[in-house]
Amino acid sequence: MAAVVRAPLRATLVLGAGAARLTRELGVRLGAAPIVALDVNPLPFLVARKILDGATVELTELPSSPRTPDDAAVLRRLGEGLSPGVDVELVLADALAPPVARGVFDTVVTPWFLDQIPPDLPRLASLIHELLGPGGRWLSHGPFVYPRERPMSARYTEPELLELVKCAGFELEATDARRLAFMESPACNQGRSEQVLTFVARRIESARIAEPPEPPWLADTSRPVPVEALARRGVDHPFFTAVTALVDGARSIDDITAVIAATQAIPAEALRVAVRACLADLARPAG
Ligand SMILES: C[S@@+](CC[C@H](N)C(=O)[O-])C[C@H]1O[C@@H](n2cnc3c(N)ncnc32)[C@H](O)[C@@H]1O
Repeated sequence: MAAVVRAPLRATLVLGAGAARLTRELGVRLGAAPIVALDVNPLPFLVARKILDGATVELTELPSSPRTPDDAAVLRRLGEGLSPGVDVELVLADALAPPVARGVFDTVVTPWFLDQIPPDLPRLASLIHELLGPGGRWLSHGPFVYPRERPMSARYTEPELLELVKCAGFELEATDARRLAFMESPACNQGRSEQVLTFVARRIESARIAEPPEPPWLADTSRPVPVEALARRGVDHPFFTAVTALVDGARSIDDITAVIAATQAIPAEALRVAVRACLADLARPAG
C-alpha cells in the first residue's frame, strides 16, 4: 500500500478499522495525524486500545488444520514489540452514518471495507466526498468478497468500482491490483489468496461530478432487461409487481410497455416513461 500512497496523510478518518493495526501503521509510516477510527464491533477495539497504549494481548490461535501437534493451539502475543505513541481516537460508531464533522479530513481510509459493508457503494462514495476537505484523498485497500445477499448488480468488478469512484467526484491518482496471501498462518495447512485493489483518489469539486452511466437496457429501451439488473423485488405496489413479473431476461422496456398497454387504457408513450422509471428504481440497491 505504501507504494501508491504519498505521505503525509494528515487528518485521517478510518472507516471499519477493526483491530487498527493498519491504522497504526498509517500513523507511524505515512504521517496520519490526528486519526479517528470508526468501527461497530467493540471486541477488536478492546484489543486495539490495549496495543495502541503499548500493552500486549495474548490470544490463542486454533488452526482448523494444524501442521504439527504443537500447532493445534498456538499462543500469540499481539502487539509485542510495538511502541505506544500513535494517537488514535477509537470511536464505536456506524461508518455509514459517521458522527464526525464534514469537509475537514485530509484522508479517508476504507481498509477491507468496500466489498463487505456498504449496501450502496455510490452513496458511500458521495459520503466520503462530503467528509473530505478540498483536495482530500480517499485511500482504499481491499478485496472483492461480496456478501451472499448482495445483488449481482451491486457486486462491482474492479473497473466498475473505479468508474464509480470517478463518478462520485474523484480523480484517480494511483491504483494497484494484485493477488495477496490471506489467512495464511504458518501453523495451518490451508490458506487463501485474494485479488486486492488499492487506490488513491483525490476529491475534486462537485461541479465536475458526472452522473454514473446508465445501463444499456435503460438508455436503449429496445434492449433486453437482464433479470439480475433488479437489485430489489417485492416492492409493495401493483404497478411495480406487474413490471417485475414481466422481466424475463428477453423482454425490453418497449416489450414490457406493449404487454401492459394491451390490457390498460394508457397511452403507450406515458406508459413507457413509467415502466422505465420503475425499472430504474428497482435497479438501485436498497440504501
Ligand atoms: C473485513 S473487516 C476489516 C477490518 C480492518 N479494516 C482490517 O483490515 O483488518 C470489516 C470491519 O468493518 C466493521 N464494520 C462492519 N459494519 C460497520 C459499520 N456499519 N460501521 C463501521 N464499521 C463496520 C467490522 O466490525 C469489521 O471490523
